[in-house]
Amino acid sequence: MAEAVAPGKVILCGEHFVVYGEPAIVAAIDLKAYAYASLTDEPGIHIYSSKVSEDALQPIREVVKLLVESKDARLIDKGLMVSINSGIPISAGLGSSAAVAVASILATSKLLGLKLKKREIVSLGVKAEEIIHGRPSGIDPTISVYGGILLFKPGGKIRRIKPAKPVELVIADSGLKRSTGVMVRRVGELASRYPDVFSRLRSTVRMLVRRAVEAIIEGDIEELGGILNMNHGLLSAIGVSNSRLEKLVYAAREAGALGSKVTGAGGGGCIIALARPRESDRIASSLVDAGAEAVYKARILEVGAM
Ligand code: PMV
Repeated sequence: MAEAVAPGKVILCGEHFVVYGEPAIVAAIDLKAYAYASLTDEPGIHIYSSKVSEDALQPIREVVKLLVESKDARLIDKGLMVSINSGIPISAGLGSSAAVAVASILATSKLLGLKLKKREIVSLGVKAEEIIHGRPSGIDPTISVYGGILLFKPGGKIRRIKPAKPVELVIADSGLKRSTGVMVRRVGELASRYPDVFSRLRSTVRMLVRRAVEAIIEGDIEELGGILNMNHGLLSAIGVSNSRLEKLVYAAREAGALGSKVTGAGGGGCIIALARPRESDRIASSLVDAGAEAVYKARILEVGAM
Protein backbone atom coordinates (compact mmCIF):
# COMPACT_ATOMS: atom_id res chain seq x y z
CA MET A 1 0.00 0.00 0.00
CA ALA A 2 1.15 3.58 -0.66
CA GLU A 3 0.03 6.62 1.27
CA ALA A 4 -0.04 10.34 0.45
CA VAL A 5 -1.31 13.47 2.15
CA ALA A 6 -2.23 16.85 0.63
CA PRO A 7 -3.29 20.13 2.29
CA GLY A 8 -6.32 22.32 1.77
CA LYS A 9 -6.00 26.07 1.28
CA VAL A 10 -7.33 29.55 1.77
CA ILE A 11 -7.16 32.27 -0.86
CA LEU A 12 -5.95 35.48 0.81
CA CYS A 13 -6.56 37.74 -2.15
CA GLY A 14 -7.70 37.45 -5.77
CA GLU A 15 -10.18 34.55 -6.07
CA HIS A 16 -12.49 34.56 -9.12
CA PHE A 17 -10.40 37.23 -10.86
CA VAL A 18 -7.62 34.60 -11.03
CA VAL A 19 -9.87 32.63 -13.42
CA TYR A 20 -9.42 35.59 -15.84
CA GLY A 21 -5.62 35.50 -15.58
CA GLU A 22 -5.08 37.86 -12.64
CA PRO A 23 -2.62 36.98 -9.85
CA ALA A 24 -3.84 35.70 -6.49
CA ILE A 25 -2.30 34.89 -3.11
CA VAL A 26 -3.01 31.47 -1.67
CA ALA A 27 -1.87 29.67 1.49
CA ALA A 28 -1.81 25.97 2.40
CA ILE A 29 -3.50 25.19 5.72
CA ASP A 30 -3.27 22.35 8.20
CA LEU A 31 -6.53 20.69 7.13
CA LYS A 32 -5.53 17.67 5.05
CA ALA A 33 -6.72 14.89 2.78
CA TYR A 34 -5.14 11.42 2.98
CA ALA A 35 -5.18 8.80 0.21
CA TYR A 36 -4.15 5.13 0.40
CA ALA A 37 -3.54 3.27 -2.87
CA SER A 38 -3.31 -0.50 -3.17
CA LEU A 39 -3.67 -3.24 -5.78
CA THR A 40 -6.80 -5.37 -5.65
CA ASP A 41 -8.11 -8.51 -7.38
CA GLU A 42 -11.20 -6.65 -8.57
CA PRO A 43 -10.39 -5.26 -12.06
CA GLY A 44 -10.85 -1.52 -12.66
CA ILE A 45 -10.21 1.59 -10.63
CA HIS A 46 -12.04 1.88 -7.35
CA ILE A 47 -12.09 5.10 -5.39
CA TYR A 48 -13.67 5.02 -1.93
CA SER A 49 -14.52 7.71 0.54
CA SER A 50 -17.15 7.78 3.26
CA LYS A 51 -17.46 11.58 3.06
CA VAL A 52 -16.89 12.57 -0.59
CA SER A 53 -19.89 12.08 -2.91
CA GLU A 54 -19.81 9.70 -5.91
CA ASP A 55 -20.05 12.75 -8.25
CA ALA A 56 -16.94 14.24 -6.72
CA LEU A 57 -15.07 10.92 -6.89
CA GLN A 58 -15.68 10.42 -10.63
CA PRO A 59 -13.09 13.04 -11.77
CA ILE A 60 -10.54 11.45 -9.46
CA ARG A 61 -11.22 8.04 -10.98
CA GLU A 62 -10.65 9.55 -14.42
CA VAL A 63 -7.31 11.19 -13.61
CA VAL A 64 -6.06 8.13 -11.73
CA LYS A 65 -6.99 6.12 -14.85
CA LEU A 66 -5.02 8.55 -17.03
CA LEU A 67 -2.03 8.15 -14.75
CA VAL A 68 -2.22 4.34 -14.70
CA GLU A 69 -2.66 4.20 -18.49
CA SER A 70 0.40 6.37 -18.95
CA LYS A 71 2.40 3.75 -17.02
CA ASP A 72 0.87 0.47 -18.14
CA ALA A 73 -2.79 0.06 -19.17
CA ARG A 74 -2.70 -3.63 -18.15
CA LEU A 75 -2.54 -2.52 -14.51
CA ILE A 76 -6.17 -1.47 -14.77
CA ASP A 77 -7.17 -5.10 -15.46
CA LYS A 78 -5.44 -6.06 -12.25
CA GLY A 79 -7.41 -3.53 -10.21
CA LEU A 80 -6.40 -0.53 -8.22
CA MET A 81 -8.06 0.81 -5.10
CA VAL A 82 -7.69 4.29 -3.61
CA SER A 83 -9.26 5.00 -0.21
CA ILE A 84 -9.64 8.62 0.79
CA ASN A 85 -9.91 10.08 4.25
CA SER A 86 -10.28 13.85 4.19
CA GLY A 87 -10.46 16.28 7.08
CA ILE A 88 -11.19 19.24 4.79
CA PRO A 89 -14.83 20.42 4.75
CA ILE A 90 -16.43 19.81 1.35
CA SER A 91 -17.81 22.60 -0.89
CA ALA A 92 -16.59 25.21 1.57
CA GLY A 93 -13.89 27.05 -0.40
CA LEU A 94 -11.01 25.27 1.33
CA GLY A 95 -9.71 23.32 -1.66
CA SER A 96 -11.08 19.93 -0.61
CA SER A 97 -11.58 18.55 -4.13
CA ALA A 98 -8.08 19.54 -5.27
CA ALA A 99 -6.45 18.13 -2.13
CA VAL A 100 -8.33 14.84 -2.50
CA ALA A 101 -7.31 14.64 -6.18
CA VAL A 102 -3.66 15.51 -5.46
CA ALA A 103 -3.40 12.98 -2.60
CA SER A 104 -4.97 10.26 -4.79
CA ILE A 105 -2.64 11.00 -7.72
CA LEU A 106 0.42 11.01 -5.47
CA ALA A 107 -0.54 7.80 -3.62
CA THR A 108 -1.15 6.03 -6.96
CA SER A 109 2.15 7.24 -8.41
CA LYS A 110 4.01 6.01 -5.31
CA LEU A 111 2.30 2.61 -5.57
CA LEU A 112 3.31 2.30 -9.22
CA GLY A 113 6.86 3.50 -8.55
CA LEU A 114 6.42 6.59 -10.74
CA LYS A 115 8.48 9.64 -9.90
CA LEU A 116 6.12 12.43 -10.96
CA LYS A 117 7.37 16.00 -11.07
CA LYS A 118 5.40 18.51 -9.01
CA ARG A 119 4.11 20.18 -12.17
CA GLU A 120 2.88 16.82 -13.50
CA ILE A 121 0.85 16.25 -10.32
CA VAL A 122 -0.56 19.79 -10.62
CA SER A 123 -1.54 19.23 -14.23
CA LEU A 124 -3.42 16.00 -13.40
CA GLY A 125 -5.05 17.86 -10.49
CA VAL A 126 -6.15 20.60 -12.88
CA LYS A 127 -7.66 17.95 -15.20
CA ALA A 128 -9.78 16.71 -12.28
CA GLU A 129 -10.87 20.29 -11.51
CA GLU A 130 -11.78 20.80 -15.17
CA ILE A 131 -14.19 17.88 -14.96
CA ILE A 132 -15.63 19.29 -11.71
CA HIS A 133 -16.07 22.93 -12.57
CA GLY A 134 -15.20 23.60 -16.17
CA ARG A 135 -12.93 26.61 -15.89
CA PRO A 136 -10.41 26.24 -13.06
CA SER A 137 -7.50 28.64 -12.69
CA GLY A 138 -5.33 25.82 -11.32
CA ILE A 139 -4.71 27.64 -8.03
CA ASP A 140 -6.11 24.87 -5.78
CA PRO A 141 -4.04 21.91 -7.05
CA THR A 142 -0.95 24.17 -7.24
CA ILE A 143 -1.03 25.17 -3.56
CA SER A 144 -1.91 21.63 -2.51
CA VAL A 145 1.24 20.35 -4.26
CA TYR A 146 3.66 23.15 -3.26
CA GLY A 147 2.44 24.28 0.19
CA GLY A 148 3.41 27.54 1.93
CA ILE A 149 2.13 30.89 0.69
CA LEU A 150 2.24 31.43 -3.07
CA LEU A 151 1.71 34.25 -5.50
CA PHE A 152 -0.07 32.40 -8.28
CA LYS A 153 -0.83 33.56 -11.80
CA PRO A 154 -2.41 31.19 -14.32
CA GLY A 155 0.19 30.11 -16.85
CA GLY A 156 2.86 32.17 -15.07
CA LYS A 157 5.69 31.31 -12.70
CA ILE A 158 4.65 30.71 -9.11
CA ARG A 159 6.46 32.74 -6.47
CA ARG A 160 6.90 31.73 -2.84
CA ILE A 161 6.08 34.47 -0.35
CA LYS A 162 7.90 34.42 2.98
CA PRO A 163 5.96 36.32 5.64
CA ALA A 164 8.06 38.51 7.95
CA LYS A 165 5.56 37.80 10.75
CA PRO A 166 3.19 34.87 11.23
CA VAL A 167 -0.14 35.34 9.47
CA GLU A 168 -2.81 34.36 12.06
CA LEU A 169 -6.04 33.41 10.38
CA VAL A 170 -9.39 32.33 11.73
CA ILE A 171 -11.62 30.45 9.28
CA ALA A 172 -15.38 30.35 9.78
CA ASP A 173 -17.59 27.99 7.80
CA SER A 174 -21.06 29.37 7.12
CA GLY A 175 -22.30 25.79 6.67
CA LEU A 176 -23.90 26.78 3.34
CA LYS A 177 -22.80 24.32 0.64
CA ARG A 178 -22.38 25.61 -2.88
CA SER A 179 -20.77 24.58 -6.14
CA THR A 180 -17.62 26.30 -7.34
CA GLY A 181 -18.71 25.71 -10.94
CA VAL A 182 -22.03 27.51 -10.43
CA MET A 183 -20.33 30.49 -8.74
CA VAL A 184 -17.64 30.72 -11.46
CA ARG A 185 -20.35 30.64 -14.16
CA ARG A 186 -22.37 33.38 -12.42
CA VAL A 187 -19.32 35.63 -12.27
CA GLY A 188 -18.73 34.83 -15.95
CA GLU A 189 -22.24 36.03 -16.80
CA LEU A 190 -21.66 39.27 -14.90
CA ALA A 191 -18.29 39.75 -16.63
CA SER A 192 -19.85 39.40 -20.08
CA ARG A 193 -22.73 41.71 -19.17
CA TYR A 194 -20.48 44.49 -17.85
CA PRO A 195 -17.12 43.94 -19.57
CA ASP A 196 -15.83 47.48 -18.96
CA VAL A 197 -16.77 47.45 -15.26
CA PHE A 198 -15.33 43.96 -14.82
CA SER A 199 -12.05 44.92 -16.43
CA ARG A 200 -11.67 47.78 -13.92
CA LEU A 201 -12.43 45.44 -11.04
CA ARG A 202 -9.75 43.12 -12.44
CA SER A 203 -7.12 45.83 -12.49
CA THR A 204 -8.11 46.87 -8.94
CA VAL A 205 -7.64 43.32 -7.70
CA ARG A 206 -4.25 43.21 -9.44
CA MET A 207 -3.20 46.29 -7.44
CA LEU A 208 -4.54 44.84 -4.20
CA VAL A 209 -2.65 41.59 -4.74
CA ARG A 210 0.58 43.50 -5.38
CA ARG A 211 0.12 45.54 -2.18
CA ALA A 212 -0.82 42.43 -0.19
CA VAL A 213 2.39 40.67 -1.27
CA GLU A 214 4.44 43.64 -0.02
CA ALA A 215 2.50 43.75 3.25
CA ILE A 216 3.11 40.04 3.91
CA ILE A 217 6.82 40.28 3.09
CA GLU A 218 7.21 43.36 5.31
CA GLY A 219 5.11 41.90 8.13
CA ASP A 220 2.66 44.80 7.98
CA ILE A 221 -0.45 42.93 9.09
CA GLU A 222 -2.52 46.10 9.61
CA GLU A 223 -1.99 46.94 5.93
CA LEU A 224 -2.78 43.37 4.93
CA GLY A 225 -6.04 43.52 6.92
CA GLY A 226 -7.15 46.65 5.07
CA ILE A 227 -6.43 44.98 1.74
CA LEU A 228 -8.46 41.90 2.70
CA ASN A 229 -11.39 44.20 3.51
CA MET A 230 -11.14 45.91 0.13
CA ASN A 231 -10.89 42.54 -1.59
CA HIS A 232 -14.06 41.46 0.20
CA GLY A 233 -15.82 44.57 -1.12
CA LEU A 234 -14.95 43.52 -4.66
CA LEU A 235 -16.19 39.98 -4.04
CA SER A 236 -19.49 41.46 -2.82
CA ALA A 237 -19.53 43.60 -5.97
CA ILE A 238 -19.37 40.53 -8.20
CA GLY A 239 -22.18 38.87 -6.26
CA VAL A 240 -20.43 36.04 -4.44
CA SER A 241 -21.27 37.18 -0.90
CA ASN A 242 -24.64 36.92 0.85
CA SER A 243 -26.23 37.88 4.16
CA ARG A 244 -24.86 34.84 6.05
CA LEU A 245 -21.32 35.54 4.86
CA GLU A 246 -21.61 39.30 5.49
CA LYS A 247 -22.73 38.58 9.04
CA LEU A 248 -19.59 36.52 9.68
CA VAL A 249 -17.31 39.03 7.93
CA TYR A 250 -18.61 41.89 10.10
CA ALA A 251 -18.72 39.84 13.31
CA ALA A 252 -14.99 39.16 12.83
CA ARG A 253 -14.20 42.85 12.27
CA GLU A 254 -16.27 43.89 15.29
CA ALA A 255 -14.34 41.37 17.40
CA GLY A 256 -11.09 43.05 16.39
CA ALA A 257 -10.04 41.29 13.19
CA LEU A 258 -7.69 43.45 11.10
CA GLY A 259 -9.46 42.26 7.98
CA SER A 260 -12.01 39.67 6.92
CA LYS A 261 -13.34 38.37 3.65
CA VAL A 262 -15.01 35.56 1.77
CA THR A 263 -12.44 32.97 0.70
CA GLY A 264 -12.79 30.75 -2.38
CA ALA A 265 -15.82 30.73 -4.64
CA GLY A 266 -18.26 32.26 -2.11
CA GLY A 267 -22.04 31.91 -2.24
CA GLY A 268 -21.56 29.98 1.01
CA GLY A 269 -18.54 28.18 2.35
CA CYS A 270 -15.99 30.05 4.42
CA ILE A 271 -14.76 33.47 5.40
CA ILE A 272 -11.29 34.22 6.76
CA ALA A 273 -10.36 36.76 9.41
CA LEU A 274 -6.87 38.12 9.99
CA ALA A 275 -6.10 38.36 13.72
CA ARG A 276 -3.53 40.31 15.71
CA PRO A 277 -1.26 37.96 17.68
CA ARG A 278 -3.17 36.20 20.49
CA GLU A 279 -6.53 37.63 19.40
CA SER A 280 -7.73 34.63 17.39
CA ASP A 281 -9.63 33.05 20.31
CA ARG A 282 -11.81 36.12 20.81
CA ILE A 283 -12.52 36.37 17.08
CA ALA A 284 -13.25 32.63 16.88
CA SER A 285 -15.80 32.76 19.68
CA SER A 286 -17.59 35.77 18.21
CA LEU A 287 -17.81 33.90 14.90
CA VAL A 288 -19.45 30.97 16.69
CA ASP A 289 -21.91 33.44 18.29
CA ALA A 290 -22.61 34.90 14.83
CA GLY A 291 -23.77 31.47 13.63
CA ALA A 292 -20.67 29.88 12.06
CA GLU A 293 -21.14 26.14 11.70
CA ALA A 294 -17.45 25.48 12.38
CA VAL A 295 -14.47 27.66 13.21
CA TYR A 296 -10.80 26.77 12.71
CA LYS A 297 -7.66 28.56 13.78
CA ALA A 298 -5.60 27.97 10.65
CA ARG A 299 -1.92 27.16 10.74
CA ILE A 300 -0.13 27.79 7.44
CA LEU A 301 1.62 24.64 6.24
CA GLU A 302 5.06 25.14 4.73
CA VAL A 303 5.07 21.84 2.89
CA GLY A 304 2.71 20.64 0.23
CA ALA A 305 1.63 17.13 -0.72
CA MET A 306 3.89 14.27 0.42
O1 PMV B 1 -13.44 25.92 -5.09
P1 PMV B 1 -13.05 27.05 -4.24
O2 PMV B 1 -14.15 27.60 -3.44
O3 PMV B 1 -11.84 26.71 -3.44
O4 PMV B 1 -12.66 28.27 -5.19
C1 PMV B 1 -11.57 28.28 -6.05
C2 PMV B 1 -11.21 29.65 -6.45
C3 PMV B 1 -11.88 30.24 -7.68
O5 PMV B 1 -11.10 31.39 -8.03
C4 PMV B 1 -13.30 30.70 -7.38
C5 PMV B 1 -11.94 29.27 -8.85
C6 PMV B 1 -10.58 28.95 -9.46
O6 PMV B 1 -10.47 27.89 -10.09
O7 PMV B 1 -9.63 29.74 -9.33
